[in-house]
Amino acid sequence: MNARSSGLAEGNGFKLGLFGSNCSGGLAFTSVPERWDASWDNNARLALLADTAGLECMVPIARWKGFGGESNVNASSLETITWATGLLAKTQRMTVFGTIHVQMIHPILAAKQIVTGDQVGHGRFGVNIVCGWRSDEFEMFRTEQYAHDDRYDFATDWWRVVTSLWERDGLFDHKGNFFSFVNLESAPKPYGGSRPLMMNAGSSPAGRGFAIQNSDLHFDYCRTPEDSAPRIAESKQMAEKIGRKIQVWIPASVVCRPTQREVDEFAQHCVDKADWEALEWQYQLYQSETGSKGRSPEEIARLRTHDPARTVLGYGGSYSIRGTPDQVAAEIKRLYDAGLSGVAIGFVNYLSELPYFVQEVTPRLERMGIRKPIAN
Ligand SMILES: Cc1cc2nc3c(=O)[nH]c(=O)nc-3n(C[C@H](O)[C@H](O)[C@H](O)COP(=O)(O)O)c2cc1C
Repeated sequence: MNARSSGLAEGNGFKLGLFGSNCSGGLAFTSVPERWDASWDNNARLALLADTAGLECMVPIARWKGFGGESNVNASSLETITWATGLLAKTQRMTVFGTIHVQMIHPILAAKQIVTGDQVGHGRFGVNIVCGWRSDEFEMFRTEQYAHDDRYDFATDWWRVVTSLWERDGLFDHKGNFFSFVNLESAPKPYGGSRPLMMNAGSSPAGRGFAIQNSDLHFDYCRTPEDSAPRIAESKQMAEKIGRKIQVWIPASVVCRPTQREVDEFAQHCVDKADWEALEWQYQLYQSETGSKGRSPEEIARLRTHDPARTVLGYGGSYSIRGTPDQVAAEIKRLYDAGLSGVAIGFVNYLSELPYFVQEVTPRLERMGIRKPIAN
């Protein structure tokens, strides 16, 4: 079954998404009073704003536990498949992703949940496959994570089961390295005869390899766009060599204000109220034996001292875009020039900050020729 062609697959030269709004605090490890309240009503209002403004997607974070500290960031999170399905019922255009920890959700259940959301959204459901890095979440499920690279072999088999259930009519058997089934069947199929787009954000060699082999969108780590450009080009070429086409995206926190002074003051306000205790726990999990292999300890240490605002606003170090509308648009053009296809954005308060971004930044991106005005 082919991956579907949609605004997210084709469309604008540079695409925009929102990231993390289903979780309290979003991407920001700070206890400022205006930090994000991830209520359903706030998410529904945000999705309507984003859809009307022509943003391509919303990407949630599948989170089962907060990070402690004063803010206990992400402690409250809406489950992502049900969240996506609800938002798809309310919106018209954009893709909404549901995020799945493959070791936690049985592939037969997942295949049907995704199809149900896809039917609700008339073909706008997307899947984020996550292999995990937080041992404390896996402990909650009373299961242990596979060794780091084995997780991606498991995900490969898991994804084969899911896609076979979508593709195959009648009864069939599956025999893989992790799953063995007889007499499988599943209906209905994904909407419109093409499969939902799949994203993966593994940045280690094994994670990136999985994304190149299987995903439609690879979310990678980016220190600077220029540093990342060769790797972005290489990921796309490696996919092309095996007859696949992938986009490369990054997540980023955005602070956009009319003046540089306001930008700096707001960033400093967030750093002054940073939840270093929660960040510390996040780093411990990330760098543990069972954590991630995406970023070196040196890189993490470097970011914390060189750019604390990037660390605090962006989940411990996602890319940070801060400036006036002209500067933010120029920074996004820099990402585009490095070969990236899109950015999934976290705001400290999505609902109060997205309208200004849409009013000031997206028209500038249109004038730069990397996005088109929305066709109504
Ligand atoms: C855009 C993006 C979305 C992610 N979503 C989740 C998520 O919802 N839940 C989660 O546990 N990890 C999430 N991750 C973590 C990655 O899936 C991955 O585990 C991590 O980057 C470690 O990569 P590695 O396995 O290649 O070392 C996300 C990462 C990024 C950049």
